[in-house]
Amino acid sequence: MTKKTPQDLRSARWFAPDDLRSFGHRSRMMQLGYAEEDFRDKPVIGILNTWSELNTCHAHFRERVQDVKRGVAQAGGFGVELPSLSVDESFTKPTSMLYRNMLAMETEEMIRSHPLDGVVLMGGCDKTTPGLVMGAISAGVPMIYLPAGPMLRGNYAGKILGSGSDAWKYWDERRAGNISDEEWLGVQGGIARSAGTCMTMGTASTMTAIADAMGITLPGASSIPAVDANHLRMSASCGRRIVEMVWEDLTPDQIITEGACRNAAIVAMATGCSTNAVVHLIAMARRAGVDLTLDDLDALGRTTPLLANVRPSGKDYLMEDFYYAGGLRALMKQIEDRLDTSALTVTGKTMGENLAGAEVYNDDVIRPLDNPVYHEGSLAVLRGNLCPDGAVIKPAACDPKYYQHEGPALVFDSYPEMKAAVDDEDLEITPDTVMVLRNAGPQGGPGFPEWGMLPIPKALIKQGYRDMLRISDARMSGTSYGACVLHVAPESYVGGPLAFLKTGDIVRLDLEGRRLDMLVSDEELAARRAAWKAPERRFERGYGYMFSKHVTQADKGCDFDFLQSDFGATAGEPDI
Ligand code: FES
Ligand code: MG
Repeated sequence: MTKKTPQDLRSARWFAPDDLRSFGHRSRMMQLGYAEEDFRDKPVIGILNTWSELNTCHAHFRERVQDVKRGVAQAGGFGVELPSLSVDESFTKPTSMLYRNMLAMETEEMIRSHPLDGVVLMGGCDKTTPGLVMGAISAGVPMIYLPAGPMLRGNYAGKILGSGSDAWKYWDERRAGNISDEEWLGVQGGIARSAGTCMTMGTASTMTAIADAMGITLPGASSIPAVDANHLRMSASCGRRIVEMVWEDLTPDQIITEGACRNAAIVAMATGCSTNAVVHLIAMARRAGVDLTLDDLDALGRTTPLLANVRPSGKDYLMEDFYYAGGLRALMKQIEDRLDTSALTVTGKTMGENLAGAEVYNDDVIRPLDNPVYHEGSLAVLRGNLCPDGAVIKPAACDPKYYQHEGPALVFDSYPEMKAAVDDEDLEITPDTVMVLRNAGPQGGPGFPEWGMLPIPKALIKQGYRDMLRISDARMSGTSYGACVLHVAPESYVGGPLAFLKTGDIVRLDLEGRRLDMLVSDEELAARRAAWKAPERRFERGYGYMFSKHVTQADKGCDFDFLQSDFGATAGEPDI
């Protein structure tokens, strides 16, 4: 399948000519201690490493990059590590989502501007997967995605703990006065106990599963726990394979097709995906020129059963169990006839060939089609006079009594305002109240923060309630749960109808009919719209300024308008 010769290598433009510039490039490689035979006529592989000392999920990447390099060298390539923006989920404020597009831009430009023939993308923590992949799609050189892998199961006092989900669960119990400080500290020390990404089916595991199903990881790579020896071997295999991909000229446009994006969406539904997957999947697909819409995702959501019994949508298990049960290949095997098995993957083979022989080893973790965790997929898209451009909800993660609901709105304009109210034990609220937070979208947040799982007010917690209908133009963490309507578009900050909702208005959710409405007349809404004043921009300079000028709404994936594939011609190859 070799298509390229050493003379055709992209890096040869930097290193081969007998001219002064190339002399400069070669002499600088020698400054690094390399002889010409180390890098001449070989695929130069950029290993984009999103390691940092504040990215807890990528703590093992400092060592893992050596395994990748080992593989690259074995296959006759030359591997170079390129540190990349380490968008970590835990510490980045106001929200890591503000920086996903920055990582995408950095990835694209770093690839384009350097003598690279192919790239290995090392990511995993939520935004790093879409950020790296979006940039690499636009750059267009052969690429393979190396997922960080989930961390080990959490453990405290004989109890298994799940990332995110159990933090909220125990926090609610603490607020209700049901657990001691000692137990709370025990949970703190036990909930994250190894390198790797959150081990629930949160955004990280969803997004790496999506990459796997798109065919841009080695088959099943996304399920391997970060600290498992298989992860080291997979990393070396990525290094070997990318060198072959360069010779085969296997570029991302051949892999990330409409069929591959659909496969990714179906698998996302079957895994009980994070709601964030919607935004990232649309953004990645659009980079590849595939017009995947919210309606496409809703249609797949209605027909794809949830098979992964992994929290928070599943009840019982975590990613480590999912791996032992056969991992993503085994899950995909269950729904093979719904997938485009002809889709080409980084292996150079089709998805169907990659799935051959995959088996389920525990059918309570990876359920068969006749015994799903939930009969439909994990996401539903709503429309109505509150969200004309869509909103999402995760039915499998909320109490079915909210599927049809009507109640009075309690509206908050900011997170601090909402936070003060939920801690007020005398707050006037009923279990039917619909709690609403606005100004929390891409522009308003700013950056589209994960505030959407609004805390249940103390006044209700004390009465034993643990769920209620909540609505916002924010996102929520993939490890969250509850009756939360998210991503209301257009967001209130830019004048979406959510901006005109008032406390006391009746809100109606009809999940089956996929509707979300406020029972307010058109005339009254028009009057409120006329009286509305647009708020000031959040940023007056810097990256935030650029972000707020160019970010698209949730239904378009929140990419920057000028980075989308249909905005204009790409820069092409640089002059050297
Ligand atoms: Fe990194 Fe959850 S904090 S994956
Ligand atoms: Mg998360």
